[in-house]
Amino acid sequence: MSDAAILARLGALLPPARLRTDADTLASHGRDWTRLYQPDPLAVAFPESVAEVQALVAIANDTACPLVPSGGRTGLSGGAVAKSRELVLSFERMNRILGFDAVDRSVTAEPGVILETLQDYARERGLQYPVDFAARGSAQLGGTIATNAGGIKVIRWGMTRDWVSGLKVVTGRGELLDLNRGLVKNNTGYDLRQLFIGSEGTLGLIVEATVRLAEAPQAPAVMVLGLPDLEAIMSAFERLRAALRLTAFECFSAQALSYVTAHGQPRPFETETPWYVLAEYDAAEERDTEAAMAAFETLAEDGIVLDGVLSQSDSQWRALWRLREDITESIAHRLPYKNDVSVRVARVPEFLRAMDELFAREYPDFEVIWFGHVGDGNLHISVLQPPEMARADFVAACEQVSEHLFATLAALGGSISAEHGVGLVKKPYLSYSRDPAEISYLRAIRAAFDPNGILNPGKLFDPA
Ligand code: LAC
Ligand code: ZN
Repeated sequence: MSDAAILARLGALLPPARLRTDADTLASHGRDWTRLYQPDPLAVAFPESVAEVQALVAIANDTACPLVPSGGRTGLSGGAVAKSRELVLSFERMNRILGFDAVDRSVTAEPGVILETLQDYARERGLQYPVDFAARGSAQLGGTIATNAGGIKVIRWGMTRDWVSGLKVVTGRGELLDLNRGLVKNNTGYDLRQLFIGSEGTLGLIVEATVRLAEAPQAPAVMVLGLPDLEAIMSAFERLRAALRLTAFECFSAQALSYVTAHGQPRPFETETPWYVLAEYDAAEERDTEAAMAAFETLAEDGIVLDGVLSQSDSQWRALWRLREDITESIAHRLPYKNDVSVRVARVPEFLRAMDELFAREYPDFEVIWFGHVGDGNLHISVLQPPEMARADFVAACEQVSEHLFATLAALGGSISAEHGVGLVKKPYLSYSRDPAEISYLRAIRAAFDPNGILNPGKLFDPA
């Protein structure tokens, strides 16, 4: 069907203010934080109800117009990119919190609720929504569920999939499914809710979610430590995990810190070291703080830590976190090529050594910034584009190295995408993490929920 005919169908459903085709909206809503693709959507729809979402899915099926579901578009794998005349379906007008249940300790909300709004809502009720990451001010609940977002508290609280107790979804066929209904126990066969979490908009559209809340944080404090070498990272992790109740264990390289300090953050301490870790721990009681001091001192005596600082106040806690959280923003102007990979935590030392060797060999001319959630076995690797190099040449060079990286990861039993998802960026490499039999089941599942292939086509994997 022609674009004009599709737009006429859409125009009969939505008023002009909620069906946009102006260049600015197409550009802003046609892409996420991945800067690898040129956005080119047909239009952007802003439904306000489940019925409107279902009507949009019906039009998409009738007219063979593909849909790209769109949240806060903070993704880093191109999952929310519309570059092939798709209809972007934005959830920003479906952003109400529908209810809090104090007994269940759960919140029911529409998908367009901003993550930080949900976190604040939980905090006001003496609880927390423990999924957390730097893009909290823009990311939307629906998107965090569709991508099974991870972040900085996974070591204690797990991924998004651990917190979703109910989901309402509109499938690619247009039916509304009400999955799990907030139950804690529900052993009635296949758990379709979990299938939709992390499905990247390929099985259905999340139109409502119920999430559990956790007990409030126990006065978290942070220490930032300077380390002499890669080996020290895991030694520090083992010691600190034994001594403290950790809620985060993050690492970053000296180069990563240099970008954050150039971006305006003060150094944590004068001593310059090749590696840094940030550990967050419960410090509600005096003995927690004493245990942290004691652990720090023995790490220093044993040469595992060269220098360090422990937060003494909320404002210092926040400032130290920014050393880690601001990395992505501080390197964004260099248009990094990103990888987000994981191995089992026990294999992190081997993995770090293998990465170090690989990058020294394959990327001698590029600046490589390492940071990540090392306590979860998850590293982010950002390769910076040399200013004088053409974008296409740079991306082609990085893609070649990715093949080596993924082969190394496959040998270590790791994953090519720890928390950022597959989208467009990782699609060519999915077979490094999922075997052919598994992928054929994934295709069959997708076809069952979206027989006409209208939901986020081209993402995750292609039809056989
Ligand atoms: C982070 C994002 C990039 O960890 O996942 O900062
Ligand atoms: Zn991350």
